[in-house]
Amino acid sequence: MALSQDDLKRAVAQAAIAYVPNDCIVGVGTGSTANFFIDELAQIKHKIRGAVASSEASAKRLQGHGIAVLSLNEAGELPVYIDGADEITRHLHMVKGGGGALTREKIVAAASQKFICVCDASKLVDVLGKFPLPIEVIPMAQSYIAREIVKLGGQPKLREGFTTDNGNIILDVHNLQIMNPVELENTLNQLAGVVTNGLFARRGADVLLLGTADGVQTLKR
Ligand code: A5P
Repeated sequence: MALSQDDLKRAVAQAAIAYVPNDCIVGVGTGSTANFFIDELAQIKHKIRGAVASSEASAKRLQGHGIAVLSLNEAGELPVYIDGADEITRHLHMVKGGGGALTREKIVAAASQKFICVCDASKLVDVLGKFPLPIEVIPMAQSYIAREIVKLGGQPKLREGFTTDNGNIILDVHNLQIMNPVELENTLNQLAGVVTNGLFARRGADVLLLGTADGVQTLKR
């Protein structure tokens, strides 16, 4: 029987457990693949001290399994951060933020020694940008940022009815062909009013666990 997308997500979530050291505090991402990882983590919860979550939703799910959730400030540097992506290249550059948690994801990833990305095969692309690039913006800067994005060749769309965990809005940018993700990540971060953009290229993943019909493939930087 053919494997479903959920089967592939579950397989990479299981494979990611091997990257969680004993007695550690683990960084946990957001989204449906991260949710599978949280469920796997519950099986080994007696072996870890707890988790730092990149969203309120993941914190709730972790707590639901009886896993201690710590703030990043309490936890300090983390050995590993495990999260999904909306798109990823073979250079392990990513677009993230489809679930709107990009800012906290970028913070927890930055504070972690290793980023393990867990994805089903549909997320692997040659060029980033088909998935609209999420940008978290301070609400008063919405029109200004939208105009600047148009100058960069993108088409911004407000994510209607959505507020981030940090109280901001998301602009999803369509029609980008991101040939130089590091440069675009830097350019967008320079715009006043941008909190974070969904490019994770300056600090990409260290390891990609990719769920395919032939099993879990491991790509390293
Ligand atoms: C959340 O803000 C995102 O960055 C997620 O990591 C990304 O959307 C992947 O989600 P799925 O695992 O649900 O595809």
